[in-house]
Amino acid sequence: MGSQDLMESLLRGKLSILLLFLWVCAATGSVTYDHKAILVNGQRRILISGSIHYPRSTPQMWPDLIQKAKEGGLDVIQTYVFWNGHEPSPGKYYFEDRYDLVKFIKLVQQAGLYVHLRIGPYICAEWNFGGFPVWLKYVPGIVFRTDNEPFKAAMQNFIEKIVSMMKAERLFQTQGGPIILSQIENEFGPMETSIGAPAIAYTKWAAQMAVGLNTGVPWIMCKQEDAPDPVINTCNGFYCENFTPNKNYKPKMWTENWTGWFTEFGGAVPRRPAQDLAFSVARFVQNGGSFVNYYMYHGGTNFGRTSSGRFKATSYDFDAPIDEYGLLNEPKWGHLRDLHKAIKLCEPALLSVDPTVSWPGNNLEVHVFKEKSGACAAFLANYDTKSSATLTFGNGKYDLPPWSISILPDCKTAVFNTARLGSQSSEMKMIAVNSGFSWQSYNEEPASSSVDDQITAYSLWEQINVTRDSTDYLWYMTDVNINPNEGFIKTGQSPLLTVMSAGHVLHVFINSQHSGTVYGASSSPKLTFSDRVNLRVGNNKISLLSVAVGLPNGDLHFETWNVGVLGPVTLDGLNEGIRDLSRQKWSYKIGLKGETLNLHTISGSASVEWVQGSLIAKNQPLTWYKTTFNTPAGNDPWALDMSSMGKGQVWINGHSIGRHWPGYIANGECGECYYAGTYTKTKCRTNCGEPSQRWYHVPRSWLNPSENYLVVFEEFGGDPAGISLVKRTTASVCADIYETLMTGQMLDSGNVNTKAHLLCPPGKKISHIKFASYGLPQGNCGNFQEGKCHAHKSYNAPQRSCIGKQTCMVTVAPEVFGGDPCPGFAKKFSVEALCS
Ligand code: GAL
Repeated sequence: MGSQDLMESLLRGKLSILLLFLWVCAATGSVTYDHKAILVNGQRRILISGSIHYPRSTPQMWPDLIQKAKEGGLDVIQTYVFWNGHEPSPGKYYFEDRYDLVKFIKLVQQAGLYVHLRIGPYICAEWNFGGFPVWLKYVPGIVFRTDNEPFKAAMQNFIEKIVSMMKAERLFQTQGGPIILSQIENEFGPMETSIGAPAIAYTKWAAQMAVGLNTGVPWIMCKQEDAPDPVINTCNGFYCENFTPNKNYKPKMWTENWTGWFTEFGGAVPRRPAQDLAFSVARFVQNGGSFVNYYMYHGGTNFGRTSSGRFKATSYDFDAPIDEYGLLNEPKWGHLRDLHKAIKLCEPALLSVDPTVSWPGNNLEVHVFKEKSGACAAFLANYDTKSSATLTFGNGKYDLPPWSISILPDCKTAVFNTARLGSQSSEMKMIAVNSGFSWQSYNEEPASSSVDDQITAYSLWEQINVTRDSTDYLWYMTDVNINPNEGFIKTGQSPLLTVMSAGHVLHVFINSQHSGTVYGASSSPKLTFSDRVNLRVGNNKISLLSVAVGLPNGDLHFETWNVGVLGPVTLDGLNEGIRDLSRQKWSYKIGLKGETLNLHTISGSASVEWVQGSLIAKNQPLTWYKTTFNTPAGNDPWALDMSSMGKGQVWINGHSIGRHWPGYIANGECGECYYAGTYTKTKCRTNCGEPSQRWYHVPRSWLNPSENYLVVFEEFGGDPAGISLVKRTTASVCADIYETLMTGQMLDSGNVNTKAHLLCPPGKKISHIKFASYGLPQGNCGNFQEGKCHAHKSYNAPQRSCIGKQTCMVTVAPEVFGGDPCPGFAKKFSVEALCS
């Protein structure tokens, strides 16, 4: 063989190896990145992602949630991994039911979507203890999230467990699976600034450890400016347009675009306008962003005791595009779907060139992505929060509402404007379907100290050290002896009992009589009980029921935060002055009697005597209630209206649907909500003056057709007669759109009529047109009003085309409504139709 031949044969050999390599890659996939984007199988991609946390819904809900995410234009589902759900005690793993991570990922794969797996294992997420198992706190010598050997060993163990599980199931993209990205740690950057050198070392270690696991897909660290190569640092926030990664060869990624915010008991319910959310995404993409994740896309529910401390509510709805119950939150879901379509039309231009940016006027900005081959996309922005602007661009004039961006995928046609809602909106209602439960009650006696007490000490103990978070409840019990010659007996001026607690709720009982309840707030969980109490001569039993509402989910060394009665506990007004009870003998009892007896299960409930009929307890603390009911017909999601109750927990067929606390009223001002201007979590809130959470989601799959066993533990006192099973249903659907594709945006190229689409949920039809106005109507879905210009035949067309149909369409043009009611004005058509 001559050298030439040898060369050729070698080249052929190399070629076939290369071909083999490419084939393997094509079959199994590759994920890399460059300065522009994540590359999947060698292709740069604009990736739209959304967070759905698998334990915050049920496996029966997952396929529908994933399908709705896909129809909403998502490419990726992002989830955290919930360590405390998976490893409840060291080395004992749980991956069943709502914690069936593999099943969840496979469902995403079946739907043809990718997965971004945020293993953490610290996750924050308003999840109990930020995802850490409580036992981790008691590992000798442990310090969380820093250069601490016991912590690092436990963390590495769990990360390896998850990665090897994913590998065994062939779930990484390099193995043909859907996982294209992973995350290590979570928002550690700000902690690093406070901790200093050990934290910097820990960051390096975490990155190296993760990368060393050879998953074949990139790792990211969010809010971590010094993320070591090759880990990508990413942005979290309401806006991220000005974010830049720490190296110019990393793509600009947004891991948490907050679609709303979480609710706390005692707080108002946050809402983020769809227009502002879309605006933030368009702004990020025009500035070179290529990966956006909505946190949350479906928020779901903090079932059981999974919500974190500082009073996080059971609902984790988050004002996400899919609501807590799995229904579309319109117009947010539809508006984002339209935005995603517009962005995808721009994808070739966005990914191949950098934009040319110009500033044609005050608060106006234009980004043009023009490829040599001809692809061209433009983003026209008006940052003014009050005034619209008319912008001349190319051969057209484009009308830009305040605080909005128009997207032109061919540099000519504005197919989308972030402030113009083209999608349907809907008004959701909670309708009572069963409010005639026949309740039985069992009153739990307050615990008090006795000679048989198992746990005693001459000091006050931190609550979680005792309960290990196996329950929210811990009894602190002590005895107080009152001498017959105490002065207060004659004066009648009872002594003052003062109890200082680190939180979160305290019920005080003296000789089994309820003497008061105090609770903290999310802003300051600490509380003080200070009140005069009835003491008798001789022995008195003081029983303090301390209640935790979840463990903290973050902040500096949150493993050291305390809960419970840490003292001092004092009695003032005795002959001796103030008596400090803090160092006398205390007995402890973990949990409620009803918890020990498993009253939330049918078998457990047989162990006590229940009363029924007119005798049932009302407005009494520490009461258990039970009833059974049959599941009503229909397919709507269920909830319990708990507005007549105070605080406690609810179980259905043995499943905990979470803590209820409708007695905690949302404080503060809600005010008007105008979409334009920088959004903050205190803007656009709702529910002020009402319970922060009135309804509690009951997953359909937890119900049997009949004989459902419902148990409520009520701590404060309430009237169960007010509890009802309600269905969440679309009461009406609305369209509210301008008459041209984008009014005025294509003034020179002629107007295109738009069409109002209405769609009732499956099984429902439009029964009535509640409102219709072509002209200048005002208000929103559910409260539209005619404006100063209104076409009198506005109702005719929707009545003709829609009544009796599940879906219908009305062309928005003057001739359809009997002529132009106000020539020269940009008109809208607002319509509200009832679905039944
Ligand atoms: C982020 C955090 C998330 C979640 C969110 C607020 O800072 O990474 O896990 O807690 O805030 O809802």
